[in-house]
Amino acid sequence: MEIALLLDYPDPPLRGATFVLRPYASIDFDAAVAFGEDPDTARWVPPLPALDPVSVLAEFERYRIDGDMLHLVIADVGDDRYLGEVMVVIGDHLVGEVGCGVVAGCRGRGIATEALGLLIRWCLTDLGLGRVQALVAQENQPGLDLATRLGLRPEGVLRSYWEGADARIDVVMHSILRDEVDRNE
Ligand SMILES: CC(C)(COP(=O)(O)OP(=O)(O)OC[C@H]1O[C@@H](n2cnc3c(N)ncnc32)[C@H](O)[C@@H]1OP(=O)(O)O)[C@@H](O)C(=O)NCCC(=O)NCCS
Repeated sequence: MEIALLLDYPDPPLRGATFVLRPYASIDFDAAVAFGEDPDTARWVPPLPALDPVSVLAEFERYRIDGDMLHLVIADVGDDRYLGEVMVVIGDHLVGEVGCGVVAGCRGRGIATEALGLLIRWCLTDLGLGRVQALVAQENQPGLDLATRLGLRPEGVLRSYWEGADARIDVVMHSILRDEVDRNE
């Protein structure tokens, strides 16, 4: 039997050069909706778990308390605005599956690399996961590039793994292990 992990928020919060990773707040709702409506994003990130700001917050909190998922907003360190999000879904055997998205206007600056890198390192050190994996569609080149920049190792193609709008989608399984993560950064 698997015992649910205690998914407390990172304390102190994980910080990058220009952002902090913090819990979702109701004020993020409009920006998060707009983010999910961007066609280049919507294909690859899950929709918000509810239709209004307070219910979204409640759902993310429920996932966390149940030990199923930790969701963090990438918030601008200056004005706290929503820049994107990172999340880890906890599976069996101390395996976590990470995801990441950055609003279109803030891409190409290294925010995703830094934010997801911080989360992965925290998962494999503080949280104690043994393996972090990321599933990236074979046709999602920015996502594949992100995985490569972070040192995740491609392990193979999961054929026809996701349902797409027109056809099923092949997905590349990537992983990084506890003893492969740099603990000193
Ligand atoms: C995948 C996604 C998060 C990548 O965003 P991104 O902006 O390309 O990634 P980064 O913020 O790390 O930026 C990397 C780029 O910034 C450049 N860069 C500038 N400063 C940098 C720094 N300090 N560190 C790393 N890269 C830096 C890199 O050279 C790279 O440029 P390039 O794409 O021309 O090679 C983004 O495309 C996205 O949100 N897509 C929709 C959701 C999605 O597909 N998620 C993936 C599934 S996990």
